Amino acid sequence: MNMPAFLLLAATGGLPLSAEASAASSRPASRPAINYDESKVPAYTLPDPLKFQDGRPVEDAAGWRRRRQEILELFRTHVYGRAPDAPQGMRFERFDENPAALGGLALRRQVTVRLAPQADEPGMDLLLYLPAERHGPVPVFAMLNFRGNQEVHPDPGIRITGRWVLNAPESGITDNRAGPQARGADASRYPVELILRRGYGLVTVCCADLDPDFDDGFANGVHGALDPPGKPRPPDAWGTIAAWAWGLSRVMDYLQTDPDVDARRVVVLGHSRMGKTALWAAAQDERFAIAISNNSGCGGAALSRRAYGETVESINGMFPHWFCANFRRYNGREAELPVDQHMLIALIAPRPVYVASAEEDRWADPRGEFLAAKAADPVYRLLGTDGLPAGDMPPVGQPVAGTIGYHCRPGAHDLTEYDWRQYLAFADRHLAGARPDSGGADRR
Ligand code: GCU
Repeated sequence: MNMPAFLLLAATGGLPLSAEASAASSRPASRPAINYDESKVPAYTLPDPLKFQDGRPVEDAAGWRRRRQEILELFRTHVYGRAPDAPQGMRFERFDENPAALGGLALRRQVTVRLAPQADEPGMDLLLYLPAERHGPVPVFAMLNFRGNQEVHPDPGIRITGRWVLNAPESGITDNRAGPQARGADASRYPVELILRRGYGLVTVCCADLDPDFDDGFANGVHGALDPPGKPRPPDAWGTIAAWAWGLSRVMDYLQTDPDVDARRVVVLGHSRMGKTALWAAAQDERFAIAISNNSGCGGAALSRRAYGETVESINGMFPHWFCANFRRYNGREAELPVDQHMLIALIAPRPVYVASAEEDRWADPRGEFLAAKAADPVYRLLGTDGLPAGDMPPVGQPVAGTIGYHCRPGAHDLTEYDWRQYLAFADRHLAGARPDSGGADRR
């Protein structure tokens, strides 16, 4: 496994891994735990997104609507688990408004979203930047961040999260609490000024506001607050990725109430585990106009059946809380999964989707991410779009984009300005420019 120990610790919030990390697997003894050799990728056949479970073909867009429901249910049952509906009586409490933030470039707005009608917690703090100069509602990028809104920009007006966050000693977070040193700690992944100058807004929420990223048996976060009390969790109960995706839909609920945002033009974007989350959020919630997966890997855009880099067994071992309990049945048995990740991408059709890899990020299986995007293409074509216009994986540094976009960037696992420039161009193209009066289509 090429995952550095510090990342592993960071990934678990510095907490010891669950006992399930060592759960027995049914992987054949001949198969390595982690494979980086293309010639050792097992032979596999992908389930056909355009065939119903009973084998009948999907022939048209109406048939796809029915097949789509089947596939959604399969992902809920076997992979991510089933999330509840939106809570009744959500409240939006604006606690900050600065029409001349970032030296006059931005309107900054901060809002606490109360997710349980009777209580203050769980709640999530939402940070919204919009171009100060705008002529009507603007399109926005919606992203979950890892360690609090203050990490996206050094702007001293951003409220430092008071909630639990993953440790990051280099940003002064050692006891799961962020301090002033955490300001702007992840700013390289959020080029706020570039986004604003291109006419877009950015909305972000910390994933830990929804569910802290460690295995506590689903006691804290939205699981603890919204699960029926005193009942055993069914094997398809929602995991942490499902909780985060559910939170993105709650962000969308808020955006629909904000007159300065064009909620029909929201691009959901996520890096790594947040990339897995962005895909699952857009798959379920058709209000998202575009989805972008940055280096999402296993359980995101990468095909599970290739078992290249991170596998179902290793992800379930290291992050037993991310998926539903049923997903563990497929440890070492990916061929038995009734879905694979190309079907997750297909669920977003015909809305534009972009999958991006990084050359050195073998853990996330760049080729498996490309092949999944490619295998979603027939669904996009059935629905009358141009899909992914690439026969084979394009060379590193050469993006291809139709309604499905793909690139493999040189370098390591990260979200960089190179990635952002492709995403902004993709959004410009599919949202008919960032200006509200330029005729952006309603793709819901
Ligand atoms: C780990 C994990 C990946 C995940 C990544 C991240 O590497 O194994 O599945 O995508 O963390 O979120 O940074």
